[in-house]
Amino acid sequence: MIQILIILTLFCSSSAETTYNVQSFGAKSDGKSDCTKAFLSAWGAACAAMSPATIYVPQGTYLLGNAYFAGKLCKNTAITIRIEGTLVAPSDYNAIAKSESWLKFEGVTGVSIFGGTLDAQGSQLWACKNSGNACPKGATSLAFYNSNNIMISGLTSLNSQMFHVLIDGCNNANLVNMKISADGNSPNTDGIHVEKSSGVTIMNPDVGTGDDCVSIGPGASNLWIENLACGPGHGVSIGSLGWDSQEAGVQNVTVKTATFSGTENGVRVKTWARPSNGFVRNVLFQHVVMSNVQNPIIIDQNYCPNHESCPNQASGVKISDVTYQDIHGTSATQVAVNFDCSKTRPCTGITLDEVNLTYKDKPATASCANAGGTAAGVVEPTSCL
Ligand SMILES: *[C@@H]1O[C@H](CO)[C@@H](O)[C@H](O)[C@H]1NC(C)=O
Ligand SMILES: *[C@@H]1O[C@H](CO)[C@@H](O)[C@H](O)[C@H]1NC(C)=O
Repeated sequence: MIQILIILTLFCSSSAETTYNVQSFGAKSDGKSDCTKAFLSAWGAACAAMSPATIYVPQGTYLLGNAYFAGKLCKNTAITIRIEGTLVAPSDYNAIAKSESWLKFEGVTGVSIFGGTLDAQGSQLWACKNSGNACPKGATSLAFYNSNNIMISGLTSLNSQMFHVLIDGCNNANLVNMKISADGNSPNTDGIHVEKSSGVTIMNPDVGTGDDCVSIGPGASNLWIENLACGPGHGVSIGSLGWDSQEAGVQNVTVKTATFSGTENGVRVKTWARPSNGFVRNVLFQHVVMSNVQNPIIIDQNYCPNHESCPNQASGVKISDVTYQDIHGTSATQVAVNFDCSKTRPCTGITLDEVNLTYKDKPATASCANAGGTAAGVVEPTSCL
């Protein structure tokens, strides 16, 4: 009896992992047939399985419209999506642009995506936006909302309409070896945006895009970014923060080992010049190489485009304990270090430690307003803290 039980147990555990090939659900890899239903059916089957499940996307091109992978009725907390092919959005941008996301996961736990390429074909929407005409806002290519224990590994995202990847309201997400690419002139195509999330780790991201390589919104905490290559793009940005008067703060952010090439900013903190109870604290930027970056180190608390919607022209966001350690390279403008802090809530605890930035082979300059802190080791341009 006991032996039979053991054999049964072995049998069950060895056959436990089930694979759902999207082609068995009707997906065609011709790049022309709409595969949205087939992908959602595979998702439904994986969700209904009581043991770990893999959704397998073989080589080829799969056309997908807006796809919503809902966690609400999903019992499975171990779903792997293994992608060998490319998922493309319809060439007419209106097909997916009405929704905020192209591929949306919400309320899921334990979803991993391995490999694959997403091509949202955003270029015609960028052209529309750049022409100044009225155009839809566009869809984020891959969004995770209110989800836990997420892994994205080896995924390539091309030509998003809006953000490439969004992590919002999540706990414990690992983004590894992602490659993100869009034109340097593509508007709002942030690489990875993280907000209202804790325990997000981004390892080895390679991002070239038209907006921030990584952007960090309200309520991000315990965020780790390591070994980033950024350019073209607008750098790593904490912000914009402080639009709302009641806003969750950003804390415990580490950006370790990063290269910025020809970007608009390097490491930036940006807040609206509006009243807010938001904050930024405990941030470390470490081992960073700047190559011809317009604003290598910048805190901008006077953000108020067109001087609209900022009645008192001061940011309520309190910035404290931000460390810049081992940052070197070249600035494309003379002011390489710019701390423009709030006059009502000055920055405190800013640390510059081994910073050497040059402008046309000469020392650059530093500019400080309402910024307090210390400098250690070699600091060029001379600290104004
Ligand atoms: C800060 O975040 C890291 C992960 O990025 C985590 O390991 C560490 O425990 C956090 N520190 C605090 C004080 O929460
Ligand atoms: C700063 O970097 C430049 C260029 O690499 C170098 O020539 C200069 O000696 C460095 N300055 C200091 C004080 O180390």
